[in-house]
Amino acid sequence: MNAMTEITAPTSPVDPATFREVMGRFATGITVMTVGTQPDKRAGVTANSFNTVSLDPPLILWSLALKAPSLPLFREHDTFAVNILAAHQKDVALRFARPADDKFAGIETLEGAHGVPLIAGAMAHIECRIAHRYPGGDHEIIVGEVLNTAHFDREPLVFHSGSFCGIRDLEQ
Ligand SMILES: Cc1cc2nc3c(=O)[nH]c(=O)nc-3n(C[C@H](O)[C@H](O)[C@H](O)COP(=O)(O)O)c2cc1C
Repeated sequence: MNAMTEITAPTSPVDPATFREVMGRFATGITVMTVGTQPDKRAGVTANSFNTVSLDPPLILWSLALKAPSLPLFREHDTFAVNILAAHQKDVALRFARPADDKFAGIETLEGAHGVPLIAGAMAHIECRIAHRYPGGDHEIIVGEVLNTAHFDREPLVFHSGSFCGIRDLEQ
């Protein structure tokens, strides 16, 4: 089979399930966005919509579903943290990808300089202040101004077509 035979005719309008499937072809890293400075009032959301916006000033963005139970907490607070997950943290990615009463139970956290919980063992932590919020269809686009960062020499977790793997799995 050559590459051309795999191309399906474009559909219009694009239905959400197909669009999700297409976007799943875009391999990404995985983050957990954390928010809340009190142990009984915090949230974490697995997200791969994360990207850099600007280097100077340092700005990042991600989008949060309007239907996400965590949205009110991200609207209430003006700081949050990006935790870029390492290859051994697939369980963490899955834990924060489903609604739950206490997603943090059994998860080791550190306290960031701005009081936001940071997920221990991650590849990088980026603490942000919310700079802008924009409407984005069924999501809210959150732009964060980077306040401080930490990074570690670990293998990244990768997400592609509905599956998680480590970057070294892709090198074989
Ligand atoms: C790989 C992956 C990436 C995801 N990326 C996003 C994202 O960028 N934005 C989003 O709102 N939800 C995303 N989700 C879904 C949320 O993690 C999920 O809806 C979660 O339950 C939201 O947290 P909450 O239920 O505590 O609000 C993603 C899920 C997975 C598995």
